[in-house]
Amino acid sequence: MITRVLPSAGRVAEAAAEHFVATAAMAMNAYSRCAVALAGGSTPENLYRLLASHPYRRQVDWSRVEVFFGDERCVRSESEFSNYGKARAALLDHVPLQPGRLHPMQGNLKPGDGAWLYEEELRRVFGPEPPLPRFDLILLGMGDDGHTASLFPGMPAVDETERWVVDTAVPSYVKPNVPRLTLTLPVINAAHSVLFLVTGASKAERVREVLAGGSQLPAARVTPARGALIWLLDEDAAALLDRR
Ligand code: 6PG
Repeated sequence: MITRVLPSAGRVAEAAAEHFVATAAMAMNAYSRCAVALAGGSTPENLYRLLASHPYRRQVDWSRVEVFFGDERCVRSESEFSNYGKARAALLDHVPLQPGRLHPMQGNLKPGDGAWLYEEELRRVFGPEPPLPRFDLILLGMGDDGHTASLFPGMPAVDETERWVVDTAVPSYVKPNVPRLTLTLPVINAAHSVLFLVTGASKAERVREVLAGGSQLPAARVTPARGALIWLLDEDAAALLDRR
């Protein structure tokens, strides 16, 4: 695991953009495409806007990027709460993706149907019978409660071992309080690389707990067996780390 502490949220986004470009280049050299899963929430929006702008935009062959999502709120894509809608506005509508290579989760369907449909989409793109789909890069954030994607503490989805995508309720404190669709830990942990982007003082306590080891919080259970795990933090989120 690599933990990098950057001076600001803006520098976290820059470091993430550099990792995205490098990972895409390696994947395309290796097998001509790059499969990424985008994170939701607000933290990655700086990254998405950077990737849609100079110089990063032209450093990625967007026609060979397969864009998936780590999770989605069960709302219509026009909703302000839609991860897909936010990613389109900040990035996806501004880069030349190849038609058919943008794979939003169907947040507008019945949650159970949306989950099965997304799993079928993964099988269609990654092949029908891999042990697990291996993303080249999965972007993740972390909530103040230590959740990641839509794997929330105490919810059954965290312990799912067979399904690739599940629907889940969310704890009462989560806003918007709507069902979610999420990749499961087996899929996340199969990735070639997982990149956490975590900024802000509100995350500091959970960052300390998760990086200290031994935690059972969902974010702590992201441990890619054959992949790189990188935490990009700003100073506020890293404030409680023992960095001697
Ligand atoms: C979501 C995200 C979620 C997010 C964290 C952090 O759909 O909300 O997938 O896991 O990454 O809640 O959110 P912020 O980046 O907004 O703090």
